[in-house]
Amino acid sequence: MKKLNGIIPVNIPKISSYEKKLVNECLRTNWISSEGKFVNLFEKNFSSFNKRKFGIAVSSGTAALEIAVKSLNLKKNSEVLIPSFSIISTANAVVKNNLKPVLIDCDLYTWNINVDEAIKKITKKTKAIIITHIYGLPVDLDKILRIAKKKNIKIIEDAAEVIGLKYKNKICGSFGDLSIFSFYANKHITTGEGGMICTNDKKLFKKCKSLRNLSFSNSVYNRFNHDDIGWNYRMTNLQAALGCGQLKNINWIVRRKREIGLRYYNKLKNCKNLILQKNITPYSKNIYWVFGVVLKNNLLSKRDKIMKTLSKNKIGTRPFFYPMNKQKIFKRMKVFKKINMPISEYISRNGFYLPSGLGLKNIEIDRVVKILLKIVS
Ligand SMILES: Cc1ncc(COP(=O)(O)O)c(C=O)c1O
Repeated sequence: MKKLNGIIPVNIPKISSYEKKLVNECLRTNWISSEGKFVNLFEKNFSSFNKRKFGIAVSSGTAALEIAVKSLNLKKNSEVLIPSFSIISTANAVVKNNLKPVLIDCDLYTWNINVDEAIKKITKKTKAIIITHIYGLPVDLDKILRIAKKKNIKIIEDAAEVIGLKYKNKICGSFGDLSIFSFYANKHITTGEGGMICTNDKKLFKKCKSLRNLSFSNSVYNRFNHDDIGWNYRMTNLQAALGCGQLKNINWIVRRKREIGLRYYNKLKNCKNLILQKNITPYSKNIYWVFGVVLKNNLLSKRDKIMKTLSKNKIGTRPFFYPMNKQKIFKRMKVFKKINMPISEYISRNGFYLPSGLGLKNIEIDRVVKILLKIVS
C-alpha cells in the first residue's frame, strides 16, 4: 500500500518480497483453499512461538473468540467476566453462546481491566474470564490467574493486540486455558484477515478444530453427518503463507513497534493535557500495538474536533473502543443492567490513537507530535 498525497495513515502493513513469493507459490500450485501445507506450518510455527502445544488457524480474531468460548461447553447463563473497554467481538462471543457477560471497568493508566474489580465480581456462577491485553500492555496476570485456578474458572487470554509481548519474561498468549490472536492488517503480523486459537489442552484443541470446520464427522463415509453446530471459520492456504512469512520478522516487528511507541512517549510524556498508557510496569514493557492518547483538563469532549484538525493536517487517527455498557445493540437486547463503567466511558470519549504502523518513519512521528502538541498545548 502506497501513502497517498502525503497523508500519514494510522497503519500501513509491511509485506516483503519473501511473503509475496510464498503467496505466489500457493497460486502457482493451485493450493488456494484451506487445504495446503502452509496452514499446518503456520499453526505449528505460531503456536511454538507462543510456547503452546497446539494452534488452530481461523478466519479472524472474532471467529477465534466465538470458537474458544463455545469449546468450553459452559452451561446456559453461566457468567463470563469480560472487559468493558475492548472490541465488541468479546461480548458477542459470550452472548452468541447463550452466556451472561459481566463487565469489568479498566484502569485509567493501563487501560486494561481493573484486576481487583474483576476478583470482586466473581460469583458462584462465574465460569470463565476473558482477559484482554489492551494496545500493547498486558493485564497484571498473577493474582487473577491464581484465583481463577483455585475456583476452577476457565481463562481465555485475548492476545490479539500483543503478539510478541512478554509478561514477566513469559510470552503473552501462553497463559490460560486458551489464547486467541488476530491477524487483521493492522496487527503485529497480518494475514489480511485471520486469527488463531492456541492451547496446551488436547481436548480443547480437538473441539476448536472441529468447530472451525462445521464439525464434520470424522468418519470418511459419513462425513456430512455433523457432530455439533460449528462454523466455516477456516483460514486459507494463501493467508497462512502470508502469515508464515510475516512470523519470520516478528522480533524486528516487536522491536520497531516499541521504538515507535517510545519515540511518541518521550516527546509527549510532559504534556499536561494528555494521559498516556504506562510505558513500563513492574511486570512488562509496553510494545505499543497502537499509540493512544487521552485528553484531560480543558480539552475534555473536544476529541472529535482535534481528530478533525489532525485529519486536515493529513494525519490519520482512530477513536478508542466504545464501552460495552453503552452499545446500542446491547441496550436494545437488555444485556446489561443500567451500570456505569466510569473509566472506560471516560477514555472512550476522550481517547484516540495516532499513526502507529510499521511503515511509519521517525520524521513522520516527529511531525505528528509537533502538530498534536500545537493543538493540545
Ligand atoms: C483485543 C481484540 N480482540 C479481538 C479482535 C478481533 O479480531 P478480528 O478483527 O481479527 O476479528 C480485535 C480486533 O481488533 C481486538 O483488538
